[in-house]
Amino acid sequence: MITRLFGATGVAVPVIGQGTWHMGENRRTERAEIAALRLGLELGLTHIDTAEMYGDGGAERVVAQAIKGHPRDALFIVTKVLPSNASYAGTIKACEQSLERLGIGHVDVYLVHWWSGRHPIADTMRAMEALAKRGLTRFVGVSNFDVAQMRQAQAALGSARLACNQVLYHLRDRAIERDLLPHCEREKVAIVGYTPLARGGFMRDEVVEVAKARGRTPRQVALNFLTRRASLFTIPKASQPEHVRENAGALDFTLAPEELRAIDRAF
Ligand SMILES: NC(=O)c1ccc[n+]([C@@H]2O[C@H](COP(=O)([O-])OP(=O)(O)OC[C@H]3O[C@@H](n4cnc5c(N)ncnc54)[C@H](OP(=O)(O)O)[C@@H]3O)[C@@H](O)[C@H]2O)c1
Repeated sequence: MITRLFGATGVAVPVIGQGTWHMGENRRTERAEIAALRLGLELGLTHIDTAEMYGDGGAERVVAQAIKGHPRDALFIVTKVLPSNASYAGTIKACEQSLERLGIGHVDVYLVHWWSGRHPIADTMRAMEALAKRGLTRFVGVSNFDVAQMRQAQAALGSARLACNQVLYHLRDRAIERDLLPHCEREKVAIVGYTPLARGGFMRDEVVEVAKARGRTPRQVALNFLTRRASLFTIPKASQPEHVRENAGALDFTLAPEELRAIDRAF
């Protein structure tokens, strides 16, 4: 799996990772979810995204099972605090509880799941920085923040820098390209795109044609397009082994400028 530097962290991270939303919600499907994440790890998808919200902590428990026995240094684990918990004390407690469920001593990035205004962002970011100082997270980041909110979050941090912003990014929703992507590139903040497969809604002729010509699948073409810039990462979620394999194979080719343009025009 191709890796690239994650924002200004200096850490190389797999461009394609693994999402976990809706994992850990149901005991009957847990075994398959753990197996899918393990297969992903074998294929180099070592960037795993989760959140205290997913399955009410269940997804973090599934991740714990999947990463058991895997060298910790070879993993890049990201989780998130719910805005309702994001007071100073609440953020510290939420992170400690996530680590307990994940069965690890630290996460790689700790994110605020979205901006809500319920707790002052300065309190949340101070807590994030305290967590980093205690070694409970290596880096801090945000999710679903616009440029103005990112500026406020960054201003509230002392020495720490925002490592990433995790945002909606798929072929039918490229809103981030207007302001957020240029801002993040200027500030050296990684963009992690979520819901990259858009529930199948990107299947336009142009994508299918490029896929056919390349001997790839339309989803591989989509994931490839969505990570075409050095600032971009993506975290598709897959519980089925054939989906994990397909997603892991999405970067074995480089889209030519005319193919990029054709897809660009189509959406
Ligand atoms: N920060 C946020 O607010 C936020 C919001 C949404 C999502 N996220 C994160 O981003 C991750 C990804 O987003 P998402 O789960 O919303 O959507 P997604 O990854 O775009 O789509 C997941 C769906 O696509 C299916 N799928 C995956 N690979 C496939 C393939 N190769 N062929 C056919 N179907 C495939 C999965 O099926 P199977 O599971 O059956 O394989 C699942 O139903 C989440 O899991 C979560 O970690 C973050």
